[in-house]
Amino acid sequence: MKFSLSLLVFASAATAAAAGLAGNRRQFSGAPTLTMGILRGQTGGSGPYLANYTTDPTLPAHTIYLPNVIPAGLKLPVMVFGNGGCRADGTSFLSILTEISSHGIMVIASGSPAGTGTTTSKMLKDAIDWVVKSAGGTGSKYAAIDATRIAVAGQSCGGVEAYDLATDPRVISVGILNSGAFSGQQAASFKKPTFYFLGGSGDIAYANGERDYKLIPAATPTWKGNLPVGHLGTYAEPNAGRFGVAVTRFLQWTLRGNTTAGEYFVGKGATADGWNVESRALGDIKTTPIDGTTVG
Ligand SMILES: *[C@@H]1O[C@H](CO)[C@@H](O)[C@H](O)[C@H]1NC(C)=O
Ligand SMILES: *[C@@H]1O[C@H](CO)[C@@H](O)[C@H](O)[C@H]1NC(C)=O
Repeated sequence: MKFSLSLLVFASAATAAAAGLAGNRRQFSGAPTLTMGILRGQTGGSGPYLANYTTDPTLPAHTIYLPNVIPAGLKLPVMVFGNGGCRADGTSFLSILTEISSHGIMVIASGSPAGTGTTTSKMLKDAIDWVVKSAGGTGSKYAAIDATRIAVAGQSCGGVEAYDLATDPRVISVGILNSGAFSGQQAASFKKPTFYFLGGSGDIAYANGERDYKLIPAATPTWKGNLPVGHLGTYAEPNAGRFGVAVTRFLQWTLRGNTTAGEYFVGKGATADGWNVESRALGDIKTTPIDGTTVG
């Protein structure tokens, strides 16, 4: 029951033609009910700012990841995230989201901690609306948050949700993890830097992600990496393994303006880590350091 429910959500999140859905359900039928217990092991992340999750009564259906201590002068950009399976459990991807946050990024995942039920892409929009409303302001709890630097991302079913926000004018970069639309031309409208992190030909979303990478306009900076580990990535490894490294660098670059992190994609770093990569127009990614502490 639970399983078919998440597939239904997958379907409604996509703009797929009804005719394609039976095949898509089969296609994504290996999509998990991930081994969530493993993903819950955490260390606070490997970055300079030990991070954890929290909640806020003004955003009750989400989970917020932040450094435990935000040093004076540190500005934080934001990533909003749709979980795999479109599960409304904001701690189901705890390892990678903590890892990302430990590098100076606020993460907002759909769903409360250990929450139940399913998400929709509207919850990503709700998170963005909340950031725009809550960020900044002298002395406010979220004074360090920079609402002009927001990325949308998601894994599997959550990646399909992220597609719906990829053209939101407030979003400056897009991360698609083990995902791609079921069908349709949505990616042909993407203009913001879009990065695909796929699990190779054994990933149930491989064909969809590969197809969409090709659909993205030639002028849009885009990168695609395949690590041959399948649909569950390396999320169960400490600090989310090589998916943790790559997704973090994508955000350090596009959100924090850290060009050293960008070298991972422009240079040989990702390839050296085992990613099979393709890219277009990465030279057109224009970033400026988010604050005095980001010098690359
Ligand atoms: C993170 O916060 C949760 C909930 O408050 C707590 O149970 C957990 O121990 C914290 N983890 C770390 C590493 O501090
Ligand atoms: C920039 O990114 C690199 C690679 O992830 C990291 O080692 C470095 O500490 C970052 N620099 C700053 C100032 O955050």
